[in-house]
Amino acid sequence: MNIPFVDLATQHATIHTEINAAIQQVLSRCNFILGSQVEEFEQAFAEFVETEHAIGVSNGLDALRLALMALDVGPGDEVILPANTYIATALAVSAVGARPALIDCDPHTYNIDVSLVEPAITPRTKAVIPVHLTGQSADMDPILEVASRHGLYVVEDAAQAHGTLYKDRPCGSIGVAGCFSFYPGKNLGACGDGGMVTTNNSSLAERLHRLRNYGQRAKYEHVEKGLNARLDTLQAAILTVKVRYLRQWNEARAAHAENYREMLRGVGDLIFQKEVPYSTHIYHLFIVETEQRAALQKHLSSAAIRTGIHYPIPIHLQQAYAELGYSRGDFPHAEQLADRMLSLPMFPELHPDQSSRVAEEVKRYFAPKERRT
Ligand SMILES: Cc1ncc(COP(=O)(O)O)c(C=O)c1O
Repeated sequence: MNIPFVDLATQHATIHTEINAAIQQVLSRCNFILGSQVEEFEQAFAEFVETEHAIGVSNGLDALRLALMALDVGPGDEVILPANTYIATALAVSAVGARPALIDCDPHTYNIDVSLVEPAITPRTKAVIPVHLTGQSADMDPILEVASRHGLYVVEDAAQAHGTLYKDRPCGSIGVAGCFSFYPGKNLGACGDGGMVTTNNSSLAERLHRLRNYGQRAKYEHVEKGLNARLDTLQAAILTVKVRYLRQWNEARAAHAENYREMLRGVGDLIFQKEVPYSTHIYHLFIVETEQRAALQKHLSSAAIRTGIHYPIPIHLQQAYAELGYSRGDFPHAEQLADRMLSLPMFPELHPDQSSRVAEEVKRYFAPKERRT
């Protein structure tokens, strides 16, 4: 039995009739650019995230970039973000000409260490980007409190948190803007690239609509320099179908995570991510930490079980960010996680036989060598 890391084929098989109908409708209307399905999905997603506005954009990186542009973050500004995130969070900051100011994460929750936000603030700091990593919310209240005292924007990177609740508030509805990715493997994934910015701020929403579409107010009337970063109509049509299943898919993921925890508790040197009382967890990723990551991954691979590493190199050690002048040892928690984290197969359709096999193989790896046959 080959166990994939993510199984999109099985997911699409369960809803292919609806997806095909949605695609067919776009093909027959030929409304490929900003067709009515984009607005339909924006409304559905705004309802899901409980915000007044949702602006469909080309991908998660552009969602962050556009949010920063719309807030006038630019050259000379600094934006605080965690060192252990996907590089897109930092790239969005660089793309607007600002400087990513990295801070370490909490070693147990993997999210931004909120006690490090205030010490990182300088006269140039304009915004903070907490990342709700793996599907669990960062601790937003202390971040909002520090940000409001210092007049900073809080932009949520919710690319891994479609449906996560922070104290009953959906991630993406808490900061001035929430930025989502619909990369295919996300909890809500398109059949290609896609992204969304959510906000309750009407003037910000208006500006985002302009900025994603060449800065135009009306056709051929460009009031500022924007991007071509619109959500594709075909993707919007597909996402409108998929968003209806998102809650049930998130619940299935959480159930699989609970099974993994049951089956793997006390096995080898495995450590699980800490679950916190202030957030739900939609388990975009199920991660185990181990000193023996490489060998365990090799063992699972030879048993046809696919795993992932999210992420092997923290931002401050990426060659692309050598200019920031950080070095190894600057963010020890982020570095330790980068060396130890292994993501096990996780997708809503994961069958109990599959998760049991994964657990069995992990246990087999950690069993005393002479018993491993
Ligand atoms: C935390 C985080 N931020 C941003 C992104 C960027 O999203 P995209 O791949 O859609 O550009 C991703 C996903 O890839 C992500 O995981």
